[in-house]
Amino acid sequence: MLDGRVAVVTGSGRGLGRSYARALAAAGASVVVNDIDADVAEETVASIVGAGGAAVAEVGAVGGAEVADALVERAVGEFGRLDVMVTNAGALRDRTLRNTTDEDFDLVVGSHLRGTFTCGRAAAARFREQGEGGRLILVGSPAGQRASFGQTAYSASKGAIVAMMRTWAVEHAKIGVTVNAIVPTALTRMVATIPGLGELVEKVDRGEPVPADVRRRGLGTPDDVAPMIVYLASAASAEVTGQAIAAGGDRIALWTHPEQVAEQFHEGGWTPEAVAEAFAGPLKGELREYLPARGDG
Ligand SMILES: NC(=O)c1ccc[n+]([C@@H]2O[C@H](COP(=O)([O-])OP(=O)(O)OC[C@H]3O[C@@H](n4cnc5c(N)ncnc54)[C@H](O)[C@@H]3O)[C@@H](O)[C@H]2O)c1
Repeated sequence: MLDGRVAVVTGSGRGLGRSYARALAAAGASVVVNDIDADVAEETVASIVGAGGAAVAEVGAVGGAEVADALVERAVGEFGRLDVMVTNAGALRDRTLRNTTDEDFDLVVGSHLRGTFTCGRAAAARFREQGEGGRLILVGSPAGQRASFGQTAYSASKGAIVAMMRTWAVEHAKIGVTVNAIVPTALTRMVATIPGLGELVEKVDRGEPVPADVRRRGLGTPDDVAPMIVYLASAASAEVTGQAIAAGGDRIALWTHPEQVAEQFHEGGWTPEAVAEAFAGPLKGELREYLPARGDG
């Protein structure tokens, strides 16, 4: 499906990124594996090469332009071109607002959001140069779509990534570059600290199967999400752009984009009292749910 294609996957030393890199390589793509941790990056490369695929490691912390440029340069230098950029890397510092320090915020936003921005920009510049389209696959989260208690910096980053995706989809429509964001859910170390999930992550790490009811709720292994990445990287998805797409376990789903759902008019303009009346009356039943909903995963 991806013979002759070249992909970069950031943060692909472990977890979902490793599954994406391995699946892209298994589908025929040559892959630049990136991680902040050199050992795990090399492990991913070894597993791809061991399975007969092509991969190299480019170690570095995504965030700044230098690492983004180095990733694109490595793809071009090693494999001659770039077709797919998957911006998967990022760090977590789960804290409620009052406990979030400036350092926490900068680390999370710097890796997830800034890393997506710089890697997306570097890849898009290369796509323009090549003139043959391309694929930007960004990574959101349920935490960016709805409330996520204790994830101030993370939900800010992930919500912004999906917003950026929509803007990039518009900006690149004419040059055949599709831009989508997946909203994955998988049993990795990232979710191991969420109450109730630690045991399941341990099971998966031991190679035990994920129970069918959990898979049905959208939670499985990283390998369950990877086929979505391969599809979005392929020619088959040429018409799909500007989408936020959930994938996990046995489930895929499309997210809506924000829409206005209820409007009211007050001729000549609004007063605070008139707004209060609208909220006590016609808008009362229209207030939106913002809590994480079961099955959003
Ligand atoms: N696991 C889930 O259910 C879930 C849900 C929603 C979103 N996501 C998103 O999917 C992506 C992967 O998550 P995961 O669960 O596999 O996490 P993970 O922690 O298992 O893997 C992330 C990898 O990124 C690397 N990394 C961290 N900061 C980096 C940086 N600045 N530059 C390069 N590499 C860096 C880490 O070393 C690690 O190998 C993340 O963007 C995460 O937010 C995961």
